[in-house]
Amino acid sequence: MSEPIIRCEGVSRKFGSRAALDDITLEVLPGRCFGFLGPNGAGKTTLIRCILGLARPTAGRITVRGHDISRDPAAALARVGAIVEEPRFYGYLSGRQNLELWAAYVGSEAPRRVETVLDRVHLMDRAGDKVSTYSLGMRQRLGVARALLCDPELLVLDEPTNGLDPDGVAEFRTLIRDLVETDGRAVFVSSHLLDEVQKVCDDLAIVDHGRLLMSGTLADLLDGGTSSLRIECDDPTRAQGVLAALPAVTAVAAEPSGILAVQLDPDQPTTRAAINRSLVEAGLGVSRLEPRSQSLEERYLELVHEEGRS
Ligand SMILES: Nc1ncnc2c1ncn2[C@@H]1O[C@H](COP(=O)(O)OP(=O)(O)O)[C@@H](O)[C@H]1O
Ligand SMILES: [Mg+2]
Repeated sequence: MSEPIIRCEGVSRKFGSRAALDDITLEVLPGRCFGFLGPNGAGKTTLIRCILGLARPTAGRITVRGHDISRDPAAALARVGAIVEEPRFYGYLSGRQNLELWAAYVGSEAPRRVETVLDRVHLMDRAGDKVSTYSLGMRQRLGVARALLCDPELLVLDEPTNGLDPDGVAEFRTLIRDLVETDGRAVFVSSHLLDEVQKVCDDLAIVDHGRLLMSGTLADLLDGGTSSLRIECDDPTRAQGVLAALPAVTAVAAEPSGILAVQLDPDQPTTRAAINRSLVEAGLGVSRLEPRSQSLEERYLELVHEEGRS
């Protein structure tokens, strides 16, 4: 397993007595897209500012590329590109001129990378036009180009698709996947939109009220959900009784169509074949028995709801 590119250990950040972040522990692996998902006010920007050394946690520790961000920010951020809030440019200069200015400031290889990064974000044909004539989506992509000048191992993007129209969002999603899959960069991206995170990220963490509700791969998140089955058979009423008597079944409900929705106890090992056998042995004809996969949205709402109760 490779060393994490970002490691947050017990990170808290208080504003007065209110905790914007409360004991956040997570790891972002190189070459993967990590989604940081949570509603507005959850603490996403606050954590991103801490990761980039723009704010200090009140407790805990953050390392980026193996370097402690508060002790050695220069080493930690040497190959990190970021967009926090809307990127600002000189409107009366062209996209290319804006990048040239920034590249001169970044130094090293950056001035030689201007054309490469313009091409990467598909702005070549408009690179000579004034930024004041760019759409919001183009400005966001120019922001990514600027963040790419340092040839980053890690890109940190705070809600980059906010305000973009559906085409802009789709373009941005393709761009992020290219940065991950083709270039091998890690991307840490925050969002309040489930759908966005589900479509672009390999791993994710869910945050609400400054607390981490879960962190893992997309697959983990879905696996952690309540397992349930949908069963269609010739005598739903009798099947309901048979199923309810099984130790692994916690609830059975008949839908108006006669299809049975069966909740399974995640701590009781069973198989679909075993459940099917119980029904068949009771003399029932089973025409369909399938796992009901939970959408990320259902799982997300379940997690946020659980947290609200605790
Ligand atoms: N500088 C600040 N002073 C006081 N409270 C702040 C400050 N910055 C953020 N907060 C509070 O911290 C919480 C998290 O904010 P933020 O990180 O911006 O959330 P998100 O980016 O997820 O919408 C919010 O309740 C916000 O009001
Ligand atoms: Mg924010």
